[in-house]
Amino acid sequence: MTKIVILTGAGISAESGLGTFRDTDGLWSQYRIEDVATPEAFARNPALVQAFYNLRRDTAARAQPNAAHQALARLQRDWRGDVVIVTQNVDSLHEVGGATDVLHMHGTLAGALCGACNHRWTAPPSMAPDEPCPACAAPAARPDVVWFGEMPYHMDEILTHLASADLFASIGTSGEVYPAAAFVQDAHASGARTIELNLEPSAVTSAFDDIRIGPASEAVPLWVDELLQKQN
Ligand code: APR
Repeated sequence: MTKIVILTGAGISAESGLGTFRDTDGLWSQYRIEDVATPEAFARNPALVQAFYNLRRDTAARAQPNAAHQALARLQRDWRGDVVIVTQNVDSLHEVGGATDVLHMHGTLAGALCGACNHRWTAPPSMAPDEPCPACAAPAARPDVVWFGEMPYHMDEILTHLASADLFASIGTSGEVYPAAAFVQDAHASGARTIELNLEPSAVTSAFDDIRIGPASEAVPLWVDELLQKQN
């Protein structure tokens, strides 16, 4: 049965009120990546980095999944084959919207990670610059997110899924950040059909077989309806 692998980015959560990164007014027009999203930034100024993620954690906790998250959860439930969601997003809106099989390749705001002993636990709503690890007591707790210069999570598993995918979809991502931007090539190499759903053409649009332009809350439910109808 057809296996579907779906990559999502900030655009799928935009209509839930979470800012994207590279659009006008995006997060990276308000903050410099090297000030808030690198291991060096955290070493230099943990207070600024924790404050940045505390604010994002608070905003994400108030957000609700939109019709696009819900449509993907419906696809996972009703499709008679595997549907794997790989997200670059650190919010939990796929899971809140009912999705079950979600790989967070850039980590999650809901998690904390000890920089000293690698223990992981549920992040408190707000983390202090010298937040202690509950396991080893080192004042080295950080958000369990992947910063620039760090290795994304679950890569072996993701590449294995892409190697057996029949259909690959990329939703709401600019195609500017690797390795996710290369997944379309990986999927093609394994013979999958590929489709991009985005508000505008991405940096890697030309690599896709199909493209649907529009807001995720409209384009994704329509695409899911089409797939489910074809299956019946
Ligand atoms: N519906 C669909 N797409 C949208 C919508 C929407 N309502 N709003 C914006 N978009 C599209 C934009 O056109 C853009 O192409 O979503 C994309 C968002 O791109 P980015 O801001 O670059 O976000 P993303 O691709 O997820 O960034 C990748 O970069 O900074 C890092 O770690 C961060 O995971 C993030 C990674």
